[in-house]
Amino acid sequence: MKGRVLIVAGSDSGGGAGIQADIKTVTALGGYAATAITALTAQDTHTVHGIYEVPPAFVGQQMEVVLGDIGADCIKTGMLHSPAILWTIVDVLTRLAPDVPLVVDPVMAAKGGAALVQPETIDVIRSKLLPLATVVTPNIPEAALLIGRPIQGAKDAQEAGRALLAFGPKAVLIKGGHLDGPKVVDLLVTEKRAIRLESPRIASTSTHGTGCTLASGIATGLAQGMALEAAVRRAREYLMEAIRTAPGFGGGHGPLNHGHTLVRK
Ligand SMILES: Nc1ncnc2c1ncn2[C@@H]1O[C@H](COP(=O)(O)OP(=O)(O)OP(=O)(O)O)[C@@H](O)[C@H]1O
Ligand SMILES: [Mg+2]
Repeated sequence: MKGRVLIVAGSDSGGGAGIQADIKTVTALGGYAATAITALTAQDTHTVHGIYEVPPAFVGQQMEVVLGDIGADCIKTGMLHSPAILWTIVDVLTRLAPDVPLVVDPVMAAKGGAALVQPETIDVIRSKLLPLATVVTPNIPEAALLIGRPIQGAKDAQEAGRALLAFGPKAVLIKGGHLDGPKVVDLLVTEKRAIRLESPRIASTSTHGTGCTLASGIATGLAQGMALEAAVRRAREYLMEAIRTAPGFGGGHGPLNHGHTLVRK
């Protein structure tokens, strides 16, 4: 086991996304997962049926005790839900983990379209969390919300990446799952260059938690000392195989096969 990842995110009772997907991903890639849970969702493969928020101070306490004892080689944030939770997290990160690499997955909507953040949260993500990030991983709708204009195609996506860099993250990964076409193209944008990461689009409805899985995979790589591009490439490979071998559970967007690295075929 190598690489301690502290995951700050919401629980998905369906097990396919959120904290559950994060823990499985980190474990399957050989890392150690610790968690600070921001909210509980009652969720299936169709939609989010209910959200039960954890008091902000308790989110902070979960982070503080883990950082104080176990430590972290990378921190990943997912669903943050309210501005109060976000403020708490920014405070703990700034005080206790200013030098720890940070992967920010700016989760704003579930695959079924349900809003997972309150509107003021977007402002705080932009102004307080993004400047701390090693990499931020918006999907197309999230990138559009963060920059305040729509994104229609690959050219727009590249410009959006540049616009997001201006908020202060070291890198931006714009995920192309929501654009059409036979290929999925993710764009890794840094000050120096933009790298296109292409794969065949897998025809599958089992794509619940792809974003969480990708971000946690990247966080694991960074925690294990990989450079960002290598961490992103490995996380994408792991994710594609998890989509390809998904078990087909549920009637909506089904979960992935996170255990494909562990089970002998
Ligand atoms: N059908 C697919 N085939 C292959 N790769 C996919 C497919 N759909 C998404 N991906 C990949 O999954 C990753 C997540 O992208 P996506 O745009 O779906 O993120 P997301 O919307 O944040 O996901 P989530 O809804 O789980 O939060 C990206 O690397 C993307 O390229
Ligand atoms: Mg997402």
